[in-house]
Amino acid sequence: MFRPRFSCYCIFCAVLGLALVWMLFASPTVARAQGKGPISFVNDVAPILQKNCFACHDAKKKKGKLEMTTYENLRKGGGKDDPIVPGKSKDSLLIDLLRSTGADRMPPKDAGDALKKEQIDIVAKWIDEGAKLDAGLDAKADLVRELRVRWNPPQPFVSYKFPTLINAVLFTPDSKRLIVGGNHELTIWDAATGKLVRRVFTRAERALAMAYLPDGKLVVAGARHGQEGDVRIYNIDAGTPKDFGGAPAVDGVNDKAVLLKELVQVDDAIWALAISKDGKKVAAGGCDRIVRVIDVESGKIEHAIENHADWILGVAFTPDGKGIVTASRDKTAKLWDLGNKESLATFPDHQNTVNNVTITPDGKFGISAGEDGQIRQWQATDSAKAIGKQSKAMPGHGKAVFRLAHHADPKTPLLASCSADMTVRLWNPIAGTAVKTMPGFTDMVYAVAISPDGQLVVGGAANGDVRIFNTGTGAPVTNFNATPGYVAPPKK
Ligand code: HEC
Repeated sequence: MFRPRFSCYCIFCAVLGLALVWMLFASPTVARAQGKGPISFVNDVAPILQKNCFACHDAKKKKGKLEMTTYENLRKGGGKDDPIVPGKSKDSLLIDLLRSTGADRMPPKDAGDALKKEQIDIVAKWIDEGAKLDAGLDAKADLVRELRVRWNPPQPFVSYKFPTLINAVLFTPDSKRLIVGGNHELTIWDAATGKLVRRVFTRAERALAMAYLPDGKLVVAGARHGQEGDVRIYNIDAGTPKDFGGAPAVDGVNDKAVLLKELVQVDDAIWALAISKDGKKVAAGGCDRIVRVIDVESGKIEHAIENHADWILGVAFTPDGKGIVTASRDKTAKLWDLGNKESLATFPDHQNTVNNVTITPDGKFGISAGEDGQIRQWQATDSAKAIGKQSKAMPGHGKAVFRLAHHADPKTPLLASCSADMTVRLWNPIAGTAVKTMPGFTDMVYAVAISPDGQLVVGGAANGDVRIFNTGTGAPVTNFNATPGYVAPPKK
């Protein structure tokens, strides 16, 4: 099943929607349409086309034989040739179709509403001004890419009226603070008191996976869903903090002291992230189905493995760093030998989306979690010729298991899982036995982490709720809503 965390079902997106409407009306585009300065094709017209037309008029669909994701192809036109007569919007097919009240209106009636008058006016004015391409922009340039490069992230809200969905949580190396993926920011909390101690603004709208490098730098995989995905390295303690609603905030978008490096930038979300034991390599995978293994120092992509038929949702390095395990929406987990570039095993038993994967410290067992509500341990060495065969099942959650956190200490191995059943659970990953169940959540738990000292486990839920527990006793340590300024309504 396609689980809801991918789509914007949450109430929070209603807020984003409002913010977008506000941005549109406050934007220079509308000002220009009202007569202030010339219209820019790439900044003013292309965003309208991307939002309303590209779905049917891209290189794949080419409805009416018209492809408009480059200026050149837009001007080539479809079956009826160039839809634009420069200088004459009234004679241009494009404008006719946008203004039409008949069956030929674009976008077609069954696909959505007509464009707003202000939007049509922008396109018409651009045509009347000569339908020019912006200086410096190639007529063959992919407009999707150009728009992505030009896009600037909004600043997070000082204080939120609705809770922010959590996709990723991570303790700092000293186990004292908790990093939570927010809305265009990472929020950092004191793990003992639940106090917000810092905010780090990010380009990515959501942090989807996080991990620490041995040198104390934070690696974050993120996304603006359907638009872009990235893997970036931060120093969250650097920068010049300014007061932002009572908490210090630093700029992880532009401040080079905070945002240290970008390892990957792609067209859609990066869901999975892992760091090799020696800290030298990062593996990342996501919607483009490619797992990239990157050398942290040089930034060079050493491997780009395309072996899954659907999104990559989990990745981990084998202890010797020579292989990786992956989890995918194609319903399998795989073990991959990086040296020989071959898949050593495919584990099919989840028979549904595999949401996450890890491997035991001895490299003997892969452990995967899935939409089937199961955590499954399987052979990852071929000594017994049983590679890829299930060795243990860890039932209990009953509903989709989203993430695993592995405290890969050979002496006290501990595995934590989080689920749609609104619990976090602890397991012995070697014996495959249940250790503890931590309840108290009131929504699906999408994110889980164990502190580096092994003392704490945390779950982060779809409704912003963060609950930290003691791993030894299972007792709650602290809980708070990780949405700055948000006050939950009183319980009925
Ligand atoms: C849901 C799909 C869909 C969307 C969205 C859509 N179109 Fe179309 N478009 C079509 C189809 C189908 C045709 C062919 C219609 C025909 O030949 O009768 C077409 C034809 C056209 C043509 C004529 C091409 C030619 O040379 O014959 C133009 C121009 C056009 N669309 C512009 C737009 C613009 C501008 C938008 C966005 C505001 C848009 N379309 C959005 C499906 C779509």
